[in-house]
Amino acid sequence: MRLFGSCIAAVALIVGWSPVGAAADTVTYIDTIKPLLALRCCSCHGASKQKGGLRLDAPEWITKGGKNGAVVVPGKPEDSPLYALTILPMDDLDVMPQKGELLTKEQTDRIAQWIRDGAVMEIEKVEEKKAPAAAATVATAAGAKPVNAFDAIAIGIPAPDPSVVKAMEAMGIVVTGLSTNRALLDVTVSHSHGETADKLRLLDRIAPNILWLDLRGTTVGDVQMKSIAKLGNLTRLHLERTAVGDAGIAQLTSCTRLEYLNVYGTKVTDAGLQALAVFKGLKQLYVWQTAVTPEGIAALQKSMPGLEIVAGP
Ligand code: HEC
Repeated sequence: MRLFGSCIAAVALIVGWSPVGAAADTVTYIDTIKPLLALRCCSCHGASKQKGGLRLDAPEWITKGGKNGAVVVPGKPEDSPLYALTILPMDDLDVMPQKGELLTKEQTDRIAQWIRDGAVMEIEKVEEKKAPAAAATVATAAGAKPVNAFDAIAIGIPAPDPSVVKAMEAMGIVVTGLSTNRALLDVTVSHSHGETADKLRLLDRIAPNILWLDLRGTTVGDVQMKSIAKLGNLTRLHLERTAVGDAGIAQLTSCTRLEYLNVYGTKVTDAGLQALAVFKGLKQLYVWQTAVTPEGIAALQKSMPGLEIVAGP
Protein backbone atom coordinates (compact mmCIF):
# COMPACT_ATOMS: atom_id res chain seq x y z
CA MET A 1 0.00 0.00 0.00
CA ARG A 2 2.63 2.41 1.13
CA LEU A 3 4.87 1.33 -1.72
CA PHE A 4 2.10 1.95 -4.19
CA GLY A 5 1.43 5.37 -2.74
CA SER A 6 4.99 6.41 -3.42
CA CYS A 7 4.80 4.90 -6.87
CA ILE A 8 1.79 7.05 -7.67
CA ALA A 9 3.62 10.10 -6.40
CA ALA A 10 6.62 9.25 -8.56
CA VAL A 11 4.42 8.82 -11.59
CA ALA A 12 2.80 12.16 -10.94
CA LEU A 13 6.20 13.77 -10.71
CA ILE A 14 7.32 12.21 -13.95
CA VAL A 15 4.16 13.39 -15.64
CA GLY A 16 4.89 16.81 -14.26
CA TRP A 17 8.29 16.77 -15.85
CA SER A 18 7.16 15.57 -19.22
CA PRO A 19 6.92 18.31 -21.81
CA VAL A 20 4.22 16.41 -23.69
CA GLY A 21 2.54 15.03 -20.58
CA ALA A 22 -0.38 16.53 -18.78
CA ALA A 23 0.05 19.17 -16.11
CA ALA A 24 1.23 17.83 -12.76
CA ASP A 25 -2.23 18.07 -11.21
CA THR A 26 -4.06 16.23 -13.98
CA VAL A 27 -4.91 12.61 -13.31
CA THR A 28 -4.58 10.50 -16.44
CA TYR A 29 -6.00 7.06 -17.10
CA ILE A 30 -2.75 5.57 -18.38
CA ASP A 31 -0.48 6.88 -15.64
CA THR A 32 -2.71 6.74 -12.59
CA ILE A 33 -6.07 5.06 -12.97
CA LYS A 34 -5.06 2.04 -15.04
CA PRO A 35 -2.22 0.99 -12.68
CA LEU A 36 -4.46 1.54 -9.66
CA LEU A 37 -7.28 -0.59 -11.08
CA ALA A 38 -4.74 -3.23 -12.13
CA LEU A 39 -3.31 -3.39 -8.64
CA ARG A 40 -6.45 -3.28 -6.52
CA CYS A 41 -9.40 -4.27 -8.70
CA CYS A 42 -8.45 -6.51 -11.61
CA SER A 43 -7.92 -9.68 -9.57
CA CYS A 44 -11.74 -9.77 -9.36
CA HIS A 45 -12.56 -7.55 -12.35
CA GLY A 46 -10.10 -8.72 -14.99
CA ALA A 47 -9.61 -11.31 -17.70
CA SER A 48 -9.98 -14.34 -15.43
CA LYS A 49 -12.76 -13.17 -13.07
CA GLN A 50 -15.57 -10.71 -13.69
CA LYS A 51 -17.27 -10.25 -10.32
CA GLY A 52 -20.50 -8.32 -10.67
CA GLY A 53 -20.18 -8.83 -14.44
CA LEU A 54 -17.52 -6.12 -14.46
CA ARG A 55 -14.09 -5.93 -16.06
CA LEU A 56 -11.83 -2.98 -15.30
CA ASP A 57 -8.71 -3.93 -17.27
CA ALA A 58 -9.37 -2.01 -20.48
CA PRO A 59 -11.29 1.13 -21.51
CA GLU A 60 -13.92 -0.76 -23.48
CA TRP A 61 -14.84 -2.86 -20.44
CA ILE A 62 -14.87 0.09 -18.09
CA THR A 63 -17.24 1.85 -20.48
CA LYS A 64 -19.42 -1.25 -20.74
CA GLY A 65 -19.97 -1.36 -16.98
CA GLY A 66 -21.20 -4.18 -14.77
CA LYS A 67 -24.40 -6.15 -14.30
CA ASN A 68 -26.09 -3.05 -12.92
CA GLY A 69 -25.02 -0.83 -15.76
CA ALA A 70 -22.52 1.99 -16.12
CA VAL A 71 -19.86 2.29 -13.42
CA VAL A 72 -18.54 5.65 -14.58
CA VAL A 73 -20.65 8.75 -15.18
CA PRO A 74 -18.22 11.29 -16.64
CA GLY A 75 -18.22 14.51 -14.63
CA LYS A 76 -20.10 12.95 -11.70
CA PRO A 77 -17.95 10.94 -9.31
CA GLU A 78 -20.74 10.63 -6.72
CA ASP A 79 -22.97 8.95 -9.30
CA SER A 80 -20.18 6.65 -10.46
CA PRO A 81 -20.07 3.28 -8.66
CA LEU A 82 -16.39 2.99 -9.62
CA TYR A 83 -15.75 5.83 -7.17
CA ALA A 84 -18.75 5.69 -4.86
CA LEU A 85 -18.12 2.08 -3.81
CA THR A 86 -14.49 2.82 -2.92
CA ILE A 87 -15.36 5.47 -0.33
CA LEU A 88 -17.79 3.33 1.63
CA PRO A 89 -16.78 2.44 5.19
CA MET A 90 -14.76 -0.75 5.72
CA ASP A 91 -17.73 -2.64 7.21
CA ASP A 92 -20.13 -1.83 4.35
CA LEU A 93 -20.96 -5.00 2.41
CA ASP A 94 -20.68 -3.20 -0.92
CA VAL A 95 -17.28 -1.61 -0.33
CA MET A 96 -14.64 -2.03 -3.07
CA PRO A 97 -12.12 -3.57 -3.16
CA GLN A 98 -14.06 -6.38 -1.58
CA LYS A 99 -10.90 -7.79 0.03
CA GLY A 100 -7.79 -6.22 1.49
CA GLU A 101 -7.25 -2.68 2.67
CA LEU A 102 -9.44 0.20 1.61
CA LEU A 103 -8.01 2.53 -0.97
CA THR A 104 -6.25 5.52 0.56
CA LYS A 105 -7.91 8.92 0.51
CA GLU A 106 -5.29 10.03 -1.99
CA GLN A 107 -6.22 7.20 -4.33
CA THR A 108 -9.99 7.73 -4.09
CA ASP A 109 -9.44 11.48 -4.58
CA ARG A 110 -7.57 10.71 -7.77
CA ILE A 111 -10.39 8.52 -9.06
CA ALA A 112 -12.87 11.30 -8.22
CA GLN A 113 -10.77 13.89 -9.98
CA TRP A 114 -10.36 11.72 -13.04
CA ILE A 115 -14.13 11.19 -13.29
CA ARG A 116 -14.83 14.87 -12.61
CA ASP A 117 -12.47 15.75 -15.47
CA GLY A 118 -14.50 13.58 -17.82
CA ALA A 119 -13.07 10.08 -17.18
CA VAL A 120 -11.00 10.33 -20.33
CA MET A 121 -9.28 7.09 -21.34
CA GLU A 122 -6.48 8.10 -23.65
CA ILE A 123 -6.63 4.94 -25.71
CA GLU A 124 -6.99 6.68 -29.08
CA LYS A 125 -4.35 9.23 -28.32
CA VAL A 126 -2.00 6.53 -27.14
CA GLU A 127 -2.59 4.39 -30.20
CA GLU A 128 -2.16 7.28 -32.53
CA LYS A 129 1.01 8.41 -30.88
CA LYS A 130 2.57 5.21 -29.65
CA ALA A 131 1.61 2.57 -32.18
CA PRO A 132 4.66 1.93 -34.32
CA ALA A 133 4.85 4.12 -37.39
CA ALA A 134 4.62 1.03 -39.61
CA ALA A 135 1.10 0.33 -38.34
CA ALA A 136 -0.14 3.75 -39.32
CA THR A 137 1.31 3.34 -42.78
CA VAL A 138 -0.38 0.00 -43.36
CA ALA A 139 -3.73 1.36 -42.21
CA THR A 140 -3.51 4.38 -44.49
CA ALA A 141 -2.28 2.38 -47.45
CA ALA A 142 -5.25 0.04 -47.13
CA GLY A 143 -7.51 3.09 -47.16
CA ALA A 144 -9.29 1.44 -44.27
CA LYS A 145 -11.71 3.05 -41.88
CA PRO A 146 -10.07 4.05 -38.62
CA VAL A 147 -9.12 0.81 -36.95
CA ASN A 148 -7.23 -0.12 -33.85
CA ALA A 149 -3.75 0.82 -35.04
CA PHE A 150 -2.33 -2.28 -33.39
CA ASP A 151 -4.46 -4.59 -35.52
CA ALA A 152 -2.34 -3.88 -38.57
CA ILE A 153 0.86 -5.09 -36.91
CA ALA A 154 -0.92 -8.01 -35.26
CA ILE A 155 -1.40 -9.63 -38.67
CA GLY A 156 0.67 -12.80 -38.89
CA ILE A 157 1.48 -12.88 -35.20
CA PRO A 158 0.03 -16.03 -33.68
CA ALA A 159 -2.18 -15.66 -30.61
CA PRO A 160 -0.36 -16.21 -27.33
CA ASP A 161 -0.64 -19.63 -25.72
CA PRO A 162 -3.66 -19.22 -23.39
CA SER A 163 -2.11 -21.52 -20.79
CA VAL A 164 0.90 -19.18 -20.57
CA VAL A 165 -1.34 -16.13 -20.19
CA LYS A 166 -3.30 -17.95 -17.50
CA ALA A 167 -0.12 -18.88 -15.64
CA MET A 168 1.00 -15.26 -15.81
CA GLU A 169 -2.31 -14.00 -14.48
CA ALA A 170 -2.12 -16.51 -11.65
CA MET A 171 1.10 -14.76 -10.57
CA GLY A 172 -0.60 -11.39 -10.58
CA ILE A 173 0.84 -10.32 -13.93
CA VAL A 174 -1.69 -8.14 -15.71
CA VAL A 175 -2.07 -9.04 -19.39
CA THR A 176 -4.09 -6.67 -21.56
CA GLY A 177 -4.75 -6.95 -25.28
CA LEU A 178 -3.57 -4.07 -27.46
CA SER A 179 -4.82 -5.47 -30.76
CA THR A 180 -8.46 -6.53 -30.98
CA ASN A 181 -7.48 -10.19 -31.37
CA ARG A 182 -5.22 -10.00 -28.29
CA ALA A 183 -2.19 -11.17 -30.29
CA LEU A 184 -0.33 -8.05 -29.16
CA LEU A 185 -0.16 -7.56 -25.45
CA ASP A 186 0.52 -5.00 -22.77
CA VAL A 187 2.11 -6.94 -19.89
CA THR A 188 2.45 -5.45 -16.41
CA VAL A 189 4.72 -7.46 -14.14
CA SER A 190 4.92 -4.83 -11.39
CA HIS A 191 3.01 -5.86 -8.27
CA SER A 192 3.00 -9.54 -9.26
CA HIS A 193 4.24 -12.28 -6.96
CA GLY A 194 6.45 -15.36 -7.39
CA GLU A 195 9.95 -16.03 -8.71
CA THR A 196 11.41 -13.62 -11.25
CA ALA A 197 12.98 -16.51 -13.18
CA ASP A 198 9.55 -18.16 -13.58
CA LYS A 199 8.05 -14.92 -14.85
CA LEU A 200 10.85 -14.44 -17.38
CA ARG A 201 10.34 -17.98 -18.65
CA LEU A 202 6.65 -17.24 -19.21
CA LEU A 203 7.45 -13.95 -20.98
CA ASP A 204 9.84 -15.83 -23.21
CA ARG A 205 7.11 -18.28 -24.25
CA ILE A 206 4.95 -15.48 -25.64
CA ALA A 207 7.86 -13.28 -26.73
CA PRO A 208 6.47 -12.18 -30.13
CA ASN A 209 3.22 -11.09 -28.49
CA ILE A 210 4.69 -8.63 -26.04
CA LEU A 211 4.59 -5.08 -27.34
CA TRP A 212 4.51 -3.18 -24.06
CA LEU A 213 6.22 -4.40 -20.90
CA ASP A 214 6.08 -2.86 -17.46
CA LEU A 215 8.73 -4.10 -15.03
CA ARG A 216 8.78 -1.06 -12.78
CA GLY A 217 9.67 -1.72 -9.18
CA THR A 218 10.40 -5.42 -9.79
CA THR A 219 13.56 -7.30 -8.84
CA VAL A 220 14.97 -7.44 -12.38
CA GLY A 221 18.54 -6.29 -12.90
CA ASP A 222 21.21 -6.40 -15.57
CA VAL A 223 21.30 -10.20 -15.75
CA GLN A 224 17.60 -10.43 -16.57
CA MET A 225 17.90 -8.00 -19.47
CA LYS A 226 19.27 -10.90 -21.53
CA SER A 227 15.75 -12.41 -21.45
CA ILE A 228 14.10 -9.08 -22.14
CA ALA A 229 16.37 -8.64 -25.17
CA LYS A 230 14.58 -11.61 -26.76
CA LEU A 231 11.33 -9.65 -26.93
CA GLY A 232 11.94 -8.41 -30.46
CA ASN A 233 8.58 -6.66 -30.87
CA LEU A 234 8.87 -4.58 -27.73
CA THR A 235 8.03 -0.92 -28.29
CA ARG A 236 7.53 0.31 -24.69
CA LEU A 237 9.62 -0.73 -21.72
CA HIS A 238 9.27 0.44 -18.12
CA LEU A 239 12.31 -0.24 -15.93
CA GLU A 240 11.72 2.43 -13.27
CA ARG A 241 13.16 1.75 -9.84
CA THR A 242 14.83 -1.52 -10.82
CA ALA A 243 18.46 -2.58 -10.36
CA VAL A 244 19.08 -2.24 -14.10
CA GLY A 245 22.22 -0.30 -15.00
CA ASP A 246 24.40 0.34 -18.02
CA ALA A 247 25.27 -3.32 -18.58
CA GLY A 248 21.57 -4.18 -18.75
CA ILE A 249 20.75 -1.37 -21.14
CA ALA A 250 23.59 -2.44 -23.43
CA GLN A 251 21.95 -5.89 -23.71
CA LEU A 252 18.74 -4.50 -25.13
CA THR A 253 20.13 -3.70 -28.57
CA SER A 254 18.09 -6.48 -30.21
CA CYS A 255 14.88 -4.69 -29.21
CA THR A 256 15.16 -2.57 -32.34
CA ARG A 257 11.52 -1.47 -32.24
CA LEU A 258 11.81 0.27 -28.89
CA GLU A 259 10.05 3.65 -28.95
CA TYR A 260 9.67 4.37 -25.24
CA LEU A 261 12.11 3.58 -22.46
CA ASN A 262 11.82 4.61 -18.84
CA VAL A 263 14.82 4.12 -16.54
CA TYR A 264 13.74 6.58 -13.85
CA GLY A 265 15.38 5.82 -10.50
CA THR A 266 17.94 3.32 -11.85
CA LYS A 267 21.78 3.31 -11.82
CA VAL A 268 22.03 4.15 -15.50
CA THR A 269 24.91 6.55 -16.28
CA ASP A 270 26.12 8.45 -19.33
CA ALA A 271 27.72 5.24 -20.60
CA GLY A 272 24.28 3.60 -20.67
CA LEU A 273 22.89 6.58 -22.56
CA GLN A 274 25.60 6.17 -25.18
CA ALA A 275 24.42 2.61 -25.80
CA LEU A 276 20.94 3.94 -26.54
CA ALA A 277 22.11 5.75 -29.65
CA VAL A 278 21.55 2.52 -31.63
CA PHE A 279 17.79 2.65 -30.97
CA LYS A 280 16.93 4.65 -34.04
CA GLY A 281 13.19 4.41 -33.39
CA LEU A 282 13.38 5.64 -29.80
CA LYS A 283 11.04 8.60 -29.29
CA GLN A 284 10.81 9.06 -25.54
CA LEU A 285 13.38 8.44 -22.85
CA TYR A 286 12.89 9.06 -19.12
CA VAL A 287 16.15 9.36 -17.19
CA TRP A 288 14.93 11.22 -14.14
CA GLN A 289 16.80 10.38 -10.90
CA THR A 290 19.60 8.41 -12.53
CA ALA A 291 23.34 9.02 -12.61
CA VAL A 292 23.25 10.63 -16.05
CA THR A 293 24.73 14.12 -16.38
CA PRO A 294 23.52 17.09 -18.44
CA GLU A 295 26.60 16.53 -20.64
CA GLY A 296 25.61 12.91 -21.23
CA ILE A 297 22.08 13.97 -22.15
CA ALA A 298 23.38 16.67 -24.48
CA ALA A 299 25.63 14.14 -26.22
CA LEU A 300 22.77 11.70 -26.79
CA GLN A 301 20.46 14.49 -27.88
CA LYS A 302 23.02 15.51 -30.47
CA SER A 303 23.16 12.05 -32.01
CA MET A 304 19.37 11.60 -31.70
CA PRO A 305 17.80 15.03 -32.29
CA GLY A 306 14.28 13.60 -32.58
CA LEU A 307 14.40 11.93 -29.19
CA GLU A 308 12.45 13.48 -26.34
CA ILE A 309 14.57 13.09 -23.21
CA VAL A 310 12.85 13.72 -19.92
CA ALA A 311 15.29 14.43 -17.10
CA GLY A 312 14.74 15.95 -13.70
CA PRO A 313 16.85 18.25 -11.59
C1 HEC B 1 -11.89 -9.61 -3.93
C2 HEC B 1 -12.69 -9.33 -5.08
C3 HEC B 1 -12.96 -7.90 -5.50
C4 HEC B 1 -12.06 -6.87 -5.65
C5 HEC B 1 -10.56 -6.90 -5.39
C6 HEC B 1 -12.81 -5.77 -6.16
N1 HEC B 1 -14.12 -6.10 -6.31
FE1 HEC B 1 -15.59 -4.95 -7.14
N2 HEC B 1 -16.92 -6.47 -6.92
C7 HEC B 1 -16.65 -7.67 -6.32
C8 HEC B 1 -17.89 -8.46 -6.24
C9 HEC B 1 -18.02 -9.84 -5.63
C10 HEC B 1 -18.88 -7.66 -6.83
C11 HEC B 1 -20.36 -8.00 -6.99
C12 HEC B 1 -21.10 -7.58 -5.77
C13 HEC B 1 -22.56 -7.88 -5.88
O1 HEC B 1 -23.03 -8.15 -6.98
O2 HEC B 1 -23.20 -7.83 -4.85
C14 HEC B 1 -18.24 -6.43 -7.25
C15 HEC B 1 -18.92 -5.39 -7.87
C16 HEC B 1 -18.34 -4.18 -8.20
C17 HEC B 1 -19.04 -3.08 -8.82
C18 HEC B 1 -20.51 -3.06 -9.20
C19 HEC B 1 -20.72 -3.66 -10.56
C20 HEC B 1 -22.20 -3.77 -10.87
O3 HEC B 1 -22.59 -3.35 -11.97
O4 HEC B 1 -22.93 -4.26 -10.03
C21 HEC B 1 -18.13 -2.05 -8.96
C22 HEC B 1 -18.36 -0.70 -9.58
C23 HEC B 1 -16.88 -2.53 -8.46
N3 HEC B 1 -17.03 -3.82 -8.00
C24 HEC B 1 -15.73 -1.77 -8.42
C25 HEC B 1 -14.53 -2.22 -7.90
C26 HEC B 1 -13.34 -1.41 -7.85
C27 HEC B 1 -13.26 0.02 -8.34
C28 HEC B 1 -12.37 -2.17 -7.28
C29 HEC B 1 -10.97 -1.76 -6.96
C30 HEC B 1 -10.80 -0.56 -6.21
C31 HEC B 1 -12.95 -3.47 -6.99
N4 HEC B 1 -14.26 -3.46 -7.38
C32 HEC B 1 -12.26 -4.52 -6.44
C33 HEC B 1 -15.42 -8.13 -5.90
C34 HEC B 1 -14.26 -7.40 -5.90
